[in-house]
Amino acid sequence: MTTSAGTERPLAHTRVIDAGSYRVTVAAGLRQQFARVIAEAAPAHHYAIVSDDEVAPLYVEPLTLALAAHAPVSVHVVPAGEGHKTRDTWARVTDGMLDAGCGRDTTVVALGGGVVGDLAGFVAATFMRGVPVVQCPTTLLAMIDASVGGKTGVDTAAGKNLVGAFHPPAAVLADVETIATLPLPQRRSGLVEAIKHGVLADAAYFARIESELPALLDADPSVTLETVARSVEIKADVVRADEREHGRRKTLNLGHTLGHALEHVSGYALLHGEAVAIGMVLEARIAERLGLAEPGTAERIQGLLRRAGLPVARPPELPVDSVVDATRLDKKARAGRVEYALPARIGAMAGEDSGWALPVDDQLVHEVLA
Ligand SMILES: NC(=O)c1ccc[n+]([C@@H]2O[C@H](COP(=O)([O-])OP(=O)(O)OC[C@H]3O[C@@H](n4cnc5c(N)ncnc54)[C@H](O)[C@@H]3O)[C@@H](O)[C@H]2O)c1
Ligand SMILES: [Zn+2]
Repeated sequence: MTTSAGTERPLAHTRVIDAGSYRVTVAAGLRQQFARVIAEAAPAHHYAIVSDDEVAPLYVEPLTLALAAHAPVSVHVVPAGEGHKTRDTWARVTDGMLDAGCGRDTTVVALGGGVVGDLAGFVAATFMRGVPVVQCPTTLLAMIDASVGGKTGVDTAAGKNLVGAFHPPAAVLADVETIATLPLPQRRSGLVEAIKHGVLADAAYFARIESELPALLDADPSVTLETVARSVEIKADVVRADEREHGRRKTLNLGHTLGHALEHVSGYALLHGEAVAIGMVLEARIAERLGLAEPGTAERIQGLLRRAGLPVARPPELPVDSVVDATRLDKKARAGRVEYALPARIGAMAGEDSGWALPVDDQLVHEVLA
């Protein structure tokens, strides 16, 4: 079927998740309706689309044409990759918007993965002291994680995400068909966060991912749709309960204390999801050693990640000492012990009494890494 800006293809199935102040809409083919939904959720006199140079050639033109029926549109394309999630790029996009005549009545549209989402979100948070942003995520990671929760920001030489703002989107629009063009390693890496959501909140969801893994890796639209929707529900529930990360939101850090350390020591050769996959297995093992997790929890997580083609053990070229040292760079380090979010079993986290953050001695971390 051919579609143009004026004719909308009816969608077979749409899921809408209430994320508090905004809604997340997930559907296959939703990009045909992006412009209309953006214009409804965040009406403006100018739309500034921010995308990167890998996503823009695939998806920016139809959106630009369709949005132009509502108001003037400017397109701001940044180079792809985490290396460009910087203040420098923020300044270039912001200057580009000023040059294009954007004012206070502008809506920013983030079209891309988590890098574009975080960057464009931060541009929106700061432009004219804050204008609306609509997140249109095109990676699995961005759909189920980065676009939900309102965190935006950029990296600095001192570390990732060190400068930013809370700026919840006006809406999140996820077209799961866009996952078909996403390279397999990126798809796998995004799946890790979905598996994490199963571990931390929903055993039945974890089991569903186990049985639907081949379809997910294949980017099957209806299986991807249900997975994105369930993950968004879980993340939105957790975030709603704890918008500013004083308590339950810490459970979302499962796999990330060691994951971030491994990512850092690898010089970012490991993809985020790959590092978190290893981190999740090792942290589940720590939880078992501490008697916090049901025996077999780490084994089951490891089995699923391995079947998904993800790494599950520390790469030997990353020295144990360096990884342990790197856990101290984490914001969660306190007085000689580093805090972890640890599982109790598949579907539940440990540590409710201690605010979901459990201090672990370096010695034990050493042993598990070795
Ligand atoms: N704000 C949050 O709460 C939050 C949560 C998790 C992660 N993040 C951030 O998200 C970022 C990682 O996001 P990511 O994994 O999406 O990486 P990314 O944005 O770099 O995208 C990965 C690669 O895929 C390409 N791509 C994107 N969509 C595509 C598509 N549909 N088809 C083909 N290619 C496509 C991109 O150009 C890029 O090269 C990190 O900066 C991380 O800090 C933020
Ligand atoms: Zn993550």
